[in-house]
Amino acid sequence: MSSDLPKKSPRVREAKIPRPVSIVGTGSYVPERVLTNADLEKLVDTSDRWIVERTGIRERRIAAENEFTSHMAAAAAKNALENAGIAATEVDLIIVATVTPDTLVPGTACRVQRIIGASNANAFDVSAACAGFLFAMEVGRQFVAGRSCATALVIGADKLSSLMNWNDRNTCVLFGDGAGAVILRSRDDSAGILATFMESNGNLAEILQVPGGGSALPVTAENADENLRTLQMNGRETFKHAVTAMVRSSLKVLDECGLSPSDIACVIPHQANIRIIEAVSDRLDLPLEKFYINLDRFGNTSAAAVVIALDEANRNRRIHHGDKLLLVAFGGGLTYAASVIEW
Ligand code: ACO
Repeated sequence: MSSDLPKKSPRVREAKIPRPVSIVGTGSYVPERVLTNADLEKLVDTSDRWIVERTGIRERRIAAENEFTSHMAAAAAKNALENAGIAATEVDLIIVATVTPDTLVPGTACRVQRIIGASNANAFDVSAACAGFLFAMEVGRQFVAGRSCATALVIGADKLSSLMNWNDRNTCVLFGDGAGAVILRSRDDSAGILATFMESNGNLAEILQVPGGGSALPVTAENADENLRTLQMNGRETFKHAVTAMVRSSLKVLDECGLSPSDIACVIPHQANIRIIEAVSDRLDLPLEKFYINLDRFGNTSAAAVVIALDEANRNRRIHHGDKLLLVAFGGGLTYAASVIEW
């Protein structure tokens, strides 16, 4: 090798070594308006008993008409910044996982940047349905681990009420609105995010989709009353794949960490249906008491569900320094993912 080549500075060498990344703050926000199962009985042919028995959901929150995904995301973000004791101007990356952006352009992350005054941040969105937060957290982790940024704000936020067909009892009883956020930084006293497993299966796209409103099938004056821009789902198929995907993701990520299910202190699962969580608990041989569950109060808040539950578990002191947590989610796409975190 030529001796003329400049010697690499220590900084360049250091930049090649990935560093551990931790969650240093959490936050969440849900809208004020509560929609109960009794309220839904007045909208569609359903009953509180059916919804509770088949899903575990008792009520959900619905955003006001003038309350957008970015408003909920920004409220959760402020909450997380406060929890971490960090100023918005210190954030250098914002990622919002959402399938209900305020507008297609600009992305919701840019709107959040403006609302919270994170003037030094890059900002973009990630779309991976209910698994979106875990996908986005892995992107953020890689930015921080690779030293491209120091402080990442990762948000899961969705206003799924804006995609509901309020005449379809198969879907309208399941979902709610909300947002959650974490701050990622490298920290000396914790290994942080130990591993993340992510997988997608586009062959199953049709079991859970919003068929219209995009470039494939624009909503026009002619088809406006066909409910094309609403969530359409094959519930039974989704249920089956959800259980398989969540179990597979959990086992894969645990294997990567050299851990077994019994090493996990708390599981933060996607909050779609209590029966899905029970089946996952059963198949992983992990007692249901280890699963943090809040779907009875919020329903399925899509990309926000895992991170709202994580924030609650953090604030309720359900998780402690050094605990190993398993976060696991699945969503339309299909997309599914699991992360193990040392808290
Ligand atoms: N109230 C009363 N009856 C209902 C309702 C309702 N709200 N919804 C469906 N039914 C009826 C059906 O019409 C059906 O009647 P039929 O037998 O006369 O045809 C009957 O109940 C049973 O329907 P199933 O679909 O078999 O009910 P199932 O036990 O599978 O429960 C459910 C349905 C709750 C949707 C379940 O399949 C489920 O949770 N699936 C997964 C959904 C999910 O997780 N979606 C989110 C994915 S994440 C994302 O990316 C957005």
